[in-house]
Amino acid sequence: MTKTMIGVIGGSGLYEIDGLQDAQWRHVDTPWGAPSDQILTGTLDGVPMAFLPRHGRGHVHTPSTVPYRANIDALKRIGVTDVISVSACGSFREDLAPGDFVLVDQYIDRTFAREKSFFGPGCVAHVSVAHPTCPRLTDACGTAARDAGITVHRGGTYLAMEGPQFSTMAESKLYRDAWGCDVIGMTGMPEAKLAREAELCYASVAMITDYDSWHPDHGAVDITAIIATLAGNADKGHNMVRRLPALLGPDRVPCPHGCDRALEFAMLTAPE
Ligand code: ADE
Repeated sequence: MTKTMIGVIGGSGLYEIDGLQDAQWRHVDTPWGAPSDQILTGTLDGVPMAFLPRHGRGHVHTPSTVPYRANIDALKRIGVTDVISVSACGSFREDLAPGDFVLVDQYIDRTFAREKSFFGPGCVAHVSVAHPTCPRLTDACGTAARDAGITVHRGGTYLAMEGPQFSTMAESKLYRDAWGCDVIGMTGMPEAKLAREAELCYASVAMITDYDSWHPDHGAVDITAIIATLAGNADKGHNMVRRLPALLGPDRVPCPHGCDRALEFAMLTAPE
């Protein structure tokens, strides 16, 4: 039996978690460079926790400059077993309203200016990301969010765009109407792919801030409205996260979906 350690990667609006016992910001080095910031560690309900602000405190990293490999590796190095990725997203569906949470289970990765793998050259690996998020961890996030009174939707396809600009209306309509995407954000990839390569269970919680630019009644992305929604979403994010340790517990049964053994099922070429 291994021990659970919950890692939370906080997006725009979520820069720390409250109520940790023995809270301490820790510097972690990785062969991939420095993570976005120090990592806040501590315990909550007897379960070790680690929090990493994706953009750094003070929001210094753009979606393209976030050191995704260092972030995932740093969490793995300090013992994290389960990663909850929290991020602000736009919505492609009327019923996914600003303030709602969506538990993402699929992605279309349109990012192009980021390092996407821990492997190669020399050691090549192809892991499956057919099901990129962990259903067990996603269930726990759903229960925690519902218990916190949040309107939460199970399942959704996340369009990961490079940014930093928001989408044009034509792009927004393409992603929504032709590609069937549900939410859009700038940071979900390659984070999810790297978590799988690192054999970490990974759940993605999209906190909706806006209707992107397809919606006839909302027009362009309205920054003032986003900022107003972000503050409320951050409170909801805290309320969800603080319920997770009690739901997951300190003792960890291996992932029934094999996320924590992903390389056993991968195609690997070891160096000679
Ligand atoms: N983050 C929040 N809203 C977004 C949007 N509409 N597009 C991309 N990223 C976002």
